[in-house]
Amino acid sequence: MLKIGDIELPVPIMLSPMAGVSDLPFRLISRSFGSPLAFTEMIDINAISQKDRRTTHMLSSSPDDRPLGVQFLGSSELQIPLAIERLHGHTVDLVDFNAACPSPKVTRKGKGAALMREPKKLAGILSALVRESRLPVAVKIRAGWDADSVNARDVALYAEDAGITCLFIHGRTRVQGYTGVVDYAVIRDVKEALGIPVIASGDNLSLEKIKRMFNETGCDGVAIARGALGNPWIFKEAISYMKDGTILPRPDVAERIAVMKHHLEMSVAHWGEKRGVGIFHKFFIWYTRGLGGLRPLRNRAFRTGTKEGLIEVIDELMQLYPLCRHRSPYQGPVTPDLMAH
Ligand SMILES: Cc1cc2nc3c(=O)[nH]c(=O)nc-3n(C[C@H](O)[C@H](O)[C@H](O)COP(=O)(O)O)c2cc1C
Repeated sequence: MLKIGDIELPVPIMLSPMAGVSDLPFRLISRSFGSPLAFTEMIDINAISQKDRRTTHMLSSSPDDRPLGVQFLGSSELQIPLAIERLHGHTVDLVDFNAACPSPKVTRKGKGAALMREPKKLAGILSALVRESRLPVAVKIRAGWDADSVNARDVALYAEDAGITCLFIHGRTRVQGYTGVVDYAVIRDVKEALGIPVIASGDNLSLEKIKRMFNETGCDGVAIARGALGNPWIFKEAISYMKDGTILPRPDVAERIAVMKHHLEMSVAHWGEKRGVGIFHKFFIWYTRGLGGLRPLRNRAFRTGTKEGLIEVIDELMQLYPLCRHRSPYQGPVTPDLMAH
């Protein structure tokens, strides 16, 4: 069991925050396969302070979406009190602050991974969050800004002094983005330096890699991002594998189809038909990733604007699946525009 403040997580393997992905339907699907915690999409404290409608919708949740972390993005501690006030009336269990986003749009404004270059400023923001919020506060950091300034250990110590309850670290620098290798040694340094739980992120794409993350870093938990796209089974499989080495069978086509339809239903219920179907298109690609020979079906899925139309396309997988060429279920490119985060 992993404890983050009062939050008790029965397993230390959880969904990592993903902007443009971690909406309520995706969180619920991930939870149904065992993720004990999930986060809202990244919320800019400026936008939430101004009661921006889209941002407020990002806080919508449901009773089975617990415990829930909200992830804030910002660059000034002055905005913290109002941002925390805006959480009133919403059910949130943990506040996570993003000092990891590598997107130039974000770092140019001194937010996200830019704060890796300003540890004292980041500590000031975290202190304000701890002061203003009655919830446990976490931070998500990177290994550093670039290979010449790997400073995660120092940043983490500042953050711990600021009173945070838990730290998430993506073991790459900002300059690496999502490329190159994950630095397990940096994560281990951070883990050894801190007294609070450290959750490790970066390339937790397969059971072997998840095990390696635990073994090489001594981390208290792992967060899975890309490996869960179209593959929520990874939570169940990783939990089983870490418990006693059991490798569960991969889901068959009937189960894949059932989960896709359930996800689509929830997406439409949450967003409305037009938006919900539009958002599900990318999940369709992810759910069918690793299957060769599906381009015509994917093209049709993209042209389909209705829930019923998309369900018909999903059902066709039953006939096509035996003809597909199977590649690794975990690997594969993530849509480049989403990689901006
Ligand atoms: C599409 C996408 C969106 C992401 N958005 C966020 C985000 O909003 N906040 C955050 O802390 N990390 C975000 N990340 C980073 C992931 O949480 C994770 O740290 C990173 O992808 C490395 O883990 P992985 O190798 O398991 O994907 C995002 C990653 C992806 C692929």
